[in-house]
Amino acid sequence: MNKTVYKNLFTPLKIAGLKLKNRITLAPLYLGYAAAGGKVSPLLLYHYKEMARSGAAMIMIENASVSPNGSGSDRTIRCDHNRYLPGLEKLALTIKDERSCAGLQINHAGRFAHVAMPVAPSSVQVFNRTPRALTKKEITTIQKQFADAALRVKKAGFDLVELHGGTGYLLAQFVSPRTNRRSDSYGGPIENRIQFPLEVLKRVKDTVGDFPVGYRFLADEWLPDGLGLKESKVLAKALEKQGVAYLSVMGGTYESFFRPDIIRKSKNPGYMVSLAGAIKKEARVPVIAAGRISTPAKAESVLANKKADLIGLARMLWVDPQWPQKARSGADRSILKCSPKCDACFQLVMQGKPAICPRWSKEKRNHYRTLFR
Ligand SMILES: Cc1cc2nc3c(=O)[nH]c(=O)nc-3n(C[C@H](O)[C@H](O)[C@H](O)COP(=O)(O)O)c2cc1C
Ligand code: SF4
Repeated sequence: MNKTVYKNLFTPLKIAGLKLKNRITLAPLYLGYAAAGGKVSPLLLYHYKEMARSGAAMIMIENASVSPNGSGSDRTIRCDHNRYLPGLEKLALTIKDERSCAGLQINHAGRFAHVAMPVAPSSVQVFNRTPRALTKKEITTIQKQFADAALRVKKAGFDLVELHGGTGYLLAQFVSPRTNRRSDSYGGPIENRIQFPLEVLKRVKDTVGDFPVGYRFLADEWLPDGLGLKESKVLAKALEKQGVAYLSVMGGTYESFFRPDIIRKSKNPGYMVSLAGAIKKEARVPVIAAGRISTPAKAESVLANKKADLIGLARMLWVDPQWPQKARSGADRSILKCSPKCDACFQLVMQGKPAICPRWSKEKRNHYRTLFR
């Protein structure tokens, strides 16, 4: 066999004091595996052990809610009370036992929260529901909730925390000109709209001290009247200035994901790499690129062409946890690929069901079903 050596992919990297053994990270992927009520479940532990065993340097766990009012679903991991600490400790340990860095993404879903009356920067209707605009006092409360949750992440033994500024959730809702129509100091020009995420980052950093804080970064909403690169670059620079550990770049929100042009775009290999490249030119912090980076050759070229410093694999690692090992041993051709024609995992979780991949063997699918409670 003529083995290709992926030199960049297997070069270690230091991020804010964290030693990453290679350039592969699990990008956050909500699969509906937590127990009802958002507690850590046997299936969640099993899944993240599999992900850590893959050999990826860093495992970023899917979004966990900072507030009961900001949870995306009944099976979204909860991080809003100390009662969740024992489960979170198990989760961190399960990953660290496999010699991967363990991170937890924390989130407030804002107008997309699975609650009777969601809150948002402004009362802008979404999917037949109109959220209530936050008062300044409530904004301060949510900032404290982010800080408290981040401290729990640290106390639970994780190596880092990630603020979820993507997918059109609350942090992104403040930055977007579509969803932030406020007339106070949090609304108006981009310099005002970035104030909320910057204050959250500051408060989190002041609370956790010497502990890396990363950011899932929405570079482009992919909506005609939405946030675009010109404005998101302003946020990237400001986050860098305020000491963010890295920017994990993505595009799109729930309002753009289902548009026919975006569905088409999202089938392309590396469909979000150009966004990562654009942000990497602006901010001098490590950048993660994700989005159908299905082959090691593609990953290597993203790194070699300096479009990103790390490769985020979400579905790509979930469908085949041996992706990193196969890349290292030159067995690229045997990597099980996520089909661009399939959308099963996304559809299942949207219906409140656990994600099972049709590309897995029957035994594996059955095993996951038995573990689900
Ligand atoms: C079912 C599903 C759940 C996701 N959950 C999250 C999440 O919790 N947090 C997040 O930042 N991104 C989430 N993402 C986005 C992924 O991190 C990633 O950016 C995207 O899937 C593209 O990478 P991939 O092609 O390797 O899957 C999710 C994507 C899918 C399909
Ligand atoms: S093949 Fe389908 S279910 Fe499997 S990861 Fe890809 S989109 Fe998800």
